[in-house]
Amino acid sequence: MAAVGDARTRRAAVRESTATTTSLADRAFRADVLAGLSGRPRAIPARWFYDRRGSELFEDITRLPEYYLTRTERSILSAHAADIASLTGPGRAVVEFGSGSSAKTPLVLSAVAPSAYVPIDISGEFLRDSVAELERQFPKLPIHPIEGDFMHRLVLPAALANQPRLGFFPGSTIGNMNAPAAVDLLRAMWETLGEGSKLLIGIDRIKPASVLIPAYDDAQGVTAEFNLNLLHRINRELGGTIPVSAFRHVARWNDTEARIEMHLEATRDVSFSVDGRPFAISKGKTIHTENSYKYGPRDARLLLRSAGWTPIGEWTDREGLFGLILAEARAIPAAP
Ligand code: TRP
Repeated sequence: MAAVGDARTRRAAVRESTATTTSLADRAFRADVLAGLSGRPRAIPARWFYDRRGSELFEDITRLPEYYLTRTERSILSAHAADIASLTGPGRAVVEFGSGSSAKTPLVLSAVAPSAYVPIDISGEFLRDSVAELERQFPKLPIHPIEGDFMHRLVLPAALANQPRLGFFPGSTIGNMNAPAAVDLLRAMWETLGEGSKLLIGIDRIKPASVLIPAYDDAQGVTAEFNLNLLHRINRELGGTIPVSAFRHVARWNDTEARIEMHLEATRDVSFSVDGRPFAISKGKTIHTENSYKYGPRDARLLLRSAGWTPIGEWTDREGLFGLILAEARAIPAAP
């Protein structure tokens, strides 16, 4: 009897140790890829772009001449820093959702005199590097990094318990969600940060396709490489045999949905396996990898209000390419 029990315990222990060597993120990646390649239309959630290589390529995208978003948002932030700071007030804990390289963070941190900084990012390695850099720049500022997926509600560090908060969500990342998901996320942020918190959010605006498309399909092919890296990552991490050279990057403007779509299109019939499972994609079919929704100024304000965030300030650039909005988490009043 004892021997059977021992064997069982041993088996359970082995199962447990295998489970811990495959991290939660690995399993979620596998599940999303297998489901995404099996579904129709084929689609893989965009968050899996951001492994180390993907995060680096994304940084390169932000420096491309065609990619107006990052430099426009930065210029708005620096031109209006004083104005923004006077509306947020000093002494708030700045919570950044999807901090990446934290490239725009110093602009905000030096403007708003924060009490603490909480960067949240799914790429742990990237997060550690950027925290080290910020610690050098702001030696007196308490920094509490969180490695995690900001799409889920997060528990803030206990040290922040009584500090007012300022959420920071730049880069028009909200545009990478459809409207229901965007509202869910904004509501989750409301819950995470609490009533009375503020949120500084960047939202890209609707503009002619002649400006939008090149921003997502640059002449140097960096965005193409970024998109194709997802297939390399599947091959690397999930034992995939995808012939990456048989796919090409496609960026389209979907006017009805007011969104840029990124796809990976098969340039010939292909078959391959991922995690031992067989897949086939015929020539011309695509894997949908990203949406980037664009909002007119009124659309953007409605989106925020839909999640309980009341806009209290708004800034744009000379050409009105990009919008930066400051909103406040207010209790949602009953109808008039
Ligand atoms: N949210 C930004 C945008 O939609 C950044 C971004 C996310 C992006 N995924 C991307 C940019 C893929 C280029 C390609 O533009």
